[in-house]
Amino acid sequence: MDISILGIPMDLGAGRRGVDMGTSALRNAHLAARLRELGHTVSDLGDVDVALPETLDKHAHSGLAFLDPILDACRATVDRLAALPAGTFPVTLGGDHSVSMGSVPGGALRGGGPGARTGVIWVDAHTDYNTPGSSPSGNIHGMPVAHLTGLGDERLAALGRGWQVRPEDVVMIGIRSVDAHERELLREAGIKAYTMKDVDQLGITRIHEETLERLAHTERLHVSFDADALDPAVCPGVGTPVPGGLTYREGHLLMELLSESGRVTGMDIVEVNPVLDTRNQTAEVMVGMAASLLGQRIL
Ligand code: ARG
Ligand code: MN
Ligand code: MN
Ligand code: MN
Repeated sequence: MDISILGIPMDLGAGRRGVDMGTSALRNAHLAARLRELGHTVSDLGDVDVALPETLDKHAHSGLAFLDPILDACRATVDRLAALPAGTFPVTLGGDHSVSMGSVPGGALRGGGPGARTGVIWVDAHTDYNTPGSSPSGNIHGMPVAHLTGLGDERLAALGRGWQVRPEDVVMIGIRSVDAHERELLREAGIKAYTMKDVDQLGITRIHEETLERLAHTERLHVSFDADALDPAVCPGVGTPVPGGLTYREGHLLMELLSESGRVTGMDIVEVNPVLDTRNQTAEVMVGMAASLLGQRIL
């Protein structure tokens, strides 16, 4: 497969600093080399330009923190990915999870055309379904899925240039932290979410089967993997850790099964924060997850 790596070194959407260094940490954990070992052709497109918070007025032009520079970085991400051939597999590196408002539409738009119908598998402790009105924190990294499905701020929702994710094409896995008003929005939109209770009760194998069945009609499949989906003991380098997460093996099994399905067409690795990490463990674990999704096998 032809794989293109694109970094978005952005921490503007997060409440804590340092997740902008995630792109560097993932490259240092030998992401490209690991994928080349699997037989892929890998090109690193480098990083999208992201403004530094020290140079900005947090609330310039709007009430939402850093809205304008986040829009700029996401627009640049859409442009870079949309210009790729349809058959290229983009691996987008965050940065905080607001980068997915660029990577998901960019992936859908690549190869030209109005945007392919795309299923989104959101692997995360959080549902990231807040809008500016519902968010208790005001942090945009808690809002990407709502905007991908057309809710919230008009400019963020318009990043897909008219293309949007359909709510029925989203499946979330690993969920264990949802805000009060966010829960209502999820219900109204009919978003399918597997909580950690579901993971415990059903297991990853059944969840994988149900997910692929649900998304069988989509043309492309995008996996957006937030490092905080995994348990904080496995991935300590995250800004919003929540206890009781996916085990190392549950994460790998999900990636291995998705890989075997042959259906996945793009991936995000987000929320790796080296400032909060232990010896780059979180980046190394996440590179392993990417390798499993892209064909690494034990035997
Ligand atoms: N729900 C919380 C909020 O809206 C936390 C979101 C965390 N999101 C993330 N991508 N880590 O602020
Ligand atoms: Mn920064
Ligand atoms: Mn997230
Ligand atoms: Mn999260």
